[in-house]
Amino acid sequence: MSLRLGDIAPNFQADTTQGSIDFHEWLGDSWGLLFSHPADFTPVCTTELGKTALLKGEFEKRGVKPIAVSVDSLDSHNKWIPDIEEINGVTMNFPIIADEERNVATLYDMIHPNASEKATVRSVFVIGPDKKIKLTLTYPASTGRNFLEILRVIDSLQLTSNYSVATPADWKEGDDTIVVPSISTADAIVKFPKGVKEVKPYLRYTPQPNK
Ligand code: BEZ
Repeated sequence: MSLRLGDIAPNFQADTTQGSIDFHEWLGDSWGLLFSHPADFTPVCTTELGKTALLKGEFEKRGVKPIAVSVDSLDSHNKWIPDIEEINGVTMNFPIIADEERNVATLYDMIHPNASEKATVRSVFVIGPDKKIKLTLTYPASTGRNFLEILRVIDSLQLTSNYSVATPADWKEGDDTIVVPSISTADAIVKFPKGVKEVKPYLRYTPQPNK
């Protein structure tokens, strides 16, 4: 059965380009971003891994550890990394899991046989410090993911978890946020000293609390 939001992200042991890991131990108290790649030496993946390496500082700021998975060998990953670095002008600064046996791909339902029997789709799992799955995304092999969107969603998830606010359609950093429905307007006025604007009893805006 596929994994759902709120499920515990399954643990696994794996070899990676930065050594062997136990996934939950490796995550520690951090947030995690686990994302799959159809195969090594493929064009879209090469750009995605470079982009993630370029954004490492942004992930760090948010306490997120990125980790990629590809169903090829460690040897193949290590031969591919110089290409990723050369093409994107970066140093690879996060691990790629060697998943030749497809253990992680199977555990996380990353192979969709009607799309491809062998290669994974582009899955994304954002995992919270409680090891629960907070977000899943599935892209086809031919579409590179938008990593700025992934950062935007992580910002929204962290605002909800830290301040009990939600984010409206197309929200971006600095825009007003929405008071979650479980908080009454009377309580919201106390909790959000920057102000609460009630458009409807169920739609209350407040300025981004951490700005
Ligand atoms: C890839 O780069 O992984 C890819 C590109 C087009 C179609 C399928 C895969």
